[in-house]
Amino acid sequence: MKQLQLDTLFKWFDDYVEPYLDTDEEGAVNIRLKIEHTRKVCDTMALISAGESLSPEDSRIASAVALLHDVGRFPQYRRWRTFRDSDSDNHARLAIDVIHEKKLLVNLDQQEQLLIEEAIRFHNLLEVPRQIHSPTRLFINLIRDADKIDIWRLFAELLALPPEMRASAATLGFADLPDEVSERCIKTLAEGCVVQLNDLKTLNDFKLLLISWVYDLNFQSSRRLILERGQISALAASLPEREYIKIAVAGALAALSEGAG
Ligand SMILES: [Fe+2]
Repeated sequence: MKQLQLDTLFKWFDDYVEPYLDTDEEGAVNIRLKIEHTRKVCDTMALISAGESLSPEDSRIASAVALLHDVGRFPQYRRWRTFRDSDSDNHARLAIDVIHEKKLLVNLDQQEQLLIEEAIRFHNLLEVPRQIHSPTRLFINLIRDADKIDIWRLFAELLALPPEMRASAATLGFADLPDEVSERCIKTLAEGCVVQLNDLKTLNDFKLLLISWVYDLNFQSSRRLILERGQISALAASLPEREYIKIAVAGALAALSEGAG
């Protein structure tokens, strides 16, 4: 993939998202959130690519993956007014539809198309399938880290706002019940595993899920970035003050430091 081809994709993205902003105020806030998320995932991807010493060629593929990974969010929101896949459709599949419909990758060689599409297809799965078609898991692993890192940023920022100012679709509709934490979610975190979306009942459970993602990072550079930014601690600070929660969070932070090298 040439730099010029990547530049063309970036230009395409700006033109593509523009009309989606032409909606009511609540809709525009939610769409803007995803535009900003995409830009920051691109920035984060560049940082991880540099941190992991990727070749310029691989960095460009990684960049294209970051740019397009959530492109399905725009038609998803317009059609269903939600970012909740379970109430609408899988946004990774929707992204692939957009890529095909707009013929975005047709000028790339077949291997590059496969690498980009597969990384996007698997970016939001709880687990990457054992069998994949790509010759490498590199780009799948990269986007999964870059996406998580920016979602941490997004929620740390969101939680710092008063509830009425938060983008409505960003908290996926979970009720903000400050004292409630589901036992199953805290147990999963304490065991060093990733909390399941199906087990979430409240916004606090969602925070636990976000914290549990530290157990699903692939690169040292990603762990270092997230430690430096202190966003896990910021998320944890908004959980109820209970000893067993503190212990589970401390375990997650310790695992993060250990993996950061
Ligand atoms: Fe994303």
